[in-house]
Amino acid sequence: MIASLLLSWYDRCGRTLPFRGTKDPYPIWISEIMLQQTRTETVGDYYLRFLSRFPDVFSLAEADEQDVLKMWEGLGYYSRARNLHKAAKIIAAEYNGVFPADEEKLRSLPGVGDYTAAAVASIAFDLPCPAMDGNLTRVLSRLHGVREDVGMPSVRRQLLSLAREDMPSRRCGDFNQALMDLGATVCTPGTPDCDACPLRTLCQAYAAGDQDMLPVKAAAKPPREVRAAVAVVTCGAKILLLQRKEALLRGLWIFPMTEEGDTPAHMEKRLQQLGVKARLVCPLGEAKHIFTHRIWQMKIYHFRAEKMESREGRWASLAEMQALPLPTAVKAARDFAQGLLTPRMLSLTPDRMAGAAAAYAVSWRQSHEKHCSQAFLREHDERHMEMILRGHLSVGKKVYAIEACGETAGILVLDPVENELVSLYIHPLFQHSGLGRAAVAFAVSALNAARDMRVTLLCDNEAARQLYTANGFTHVQATRALNPARGVYEEDRVRKGEEA
Ligand code: ADE
Repeated sequence: MIASLLLSWYDRCGRTLPFRGTKDPYPIWISEIMLQQTRTETVGDYYLRFLSRFPDVFSLAEADEQDVLKMWEGLGYYSRARNLHKAAKIIAAEYNGVFPADEEKLRSLPGVGDYTAAAVASIAFDLPCPAMDGNLTRVLSRLHGVREDVGMPSVRRQLLSLAREDMPSRRCGDFNQALMDLGATVCTPGTPDCDACPLRTLCQAYAAGDQDMLPVKAAAKPPREVRAAVAVVTCGAKILLLQRKEALLRGLWIFPMTEEGDTPAHMEKRLQQLGVKARLVCPLGEAKHIFTHRIWQMKIYHFRAEKMESREGRWASLAEMQALPLPTAVKAARDFAQGLLTPRMLSLTPDRMAGAAAAYAVSWRQSHEKHCSQAFLREHDERHMEMILRGHLSVGKKVYAIEACGETAGILVLDPVENELVSLYIHPLFQHSGLGRAAVAFAVSALNAARDMRVTLLCDNEAARQLYTANGFTHVQATRALNPARGVYEEDRVRKGEEA
């Protein structure tokens, strides 16, 4: 009776979800692992992205764990992803990629507990296994009037045996999913919508009028709050990231942090342990993240390091940070980091002149040191570069200070009349961080794309050549000889104007 009422309701009112409509155990298993601790609405997109990246159990088994974690980024409870990966290896190696149609064998896989084994067994193989999640627990305790703490093992066993009695001999997966849908849409926590319920006439709680008191649950222990300091440590346009070794968030990348306390002094001690010489720039803000058993109450600071040195972790550019798996717990710090690492092209105003001239001088000397005499290099000091920049400004060229991490990282000069990229120099500390690429993209958008665009560069500067080639500039001619004895010239490159 229960099953037939419920299944006919499910056929009419069941939810349409992206992971429904398949009997293939691989996607069913993926969705059920995702659904363990995550809402159905959130799972949809993750599920589709995950399956397009890892379409079968072999592709998942062969994947790098970091790539699996990256696809899990934002879902939380990352041990699920690590166990998923381990279980895929077992299915691939020990079962030839074929999932066993056996609840016990499924339960022996890493990350697969009673609930998931039953869900996969019933949905993929139509085995009569009740998948006791929160929804089933609530619906069945109301339906059968179970008024004891559902956290107690004896009460759980009682609910399981009631569910087995209610289970039909066919459409076992639909029966489980119908109970889940009923729990999610009708027999909801708090006050359920009993008028819409297909099982109302059979429901003991409805008859007694205590449906909103069920299920009975002992109060959960509140999570422990810890005050933590988090440091966005920059050096040039790179940031220090550490890979978690602790059970919580293991394998994911986060910023240096300490749970010992939230002051700059606590962070200084932590950075010393890491062998990082850095000083505080400023506080960036505060954030809070709630885990099941812990709350991180975080104060976030910007520290600047003298050198890219650290006993652990890695110094990452913005693009590298974006490619690594970072947990949502550090989202606020990551947003600050992203803001700091994203280069900005700022019009050269008098207050930015000194910083711009300094970055220009260091970078110019670095690129010309092989070609020019020491005296000539010495001549190109900050004062000289400032004079050059002023000259550009005085004839109407557009001069920009390239800023990143709160510092001036380089200069960009554009000539709108000649439609030319006149100069692009990045301080060595800020090189290999994507700033050159960002500056060229900015120049291309600021100049007239319909006309040919010119740039002159040192032809032995391989990094510059690659940068311009990647942006559609092609070589036209070698121009001024800088060191003919060594065959070093400046060369002109042109980016062809787009057809109007
Ligand atoms: N929650 C967990 N598994 C589910 C499923 N298969 N359908 C709906 N909700 C769920």
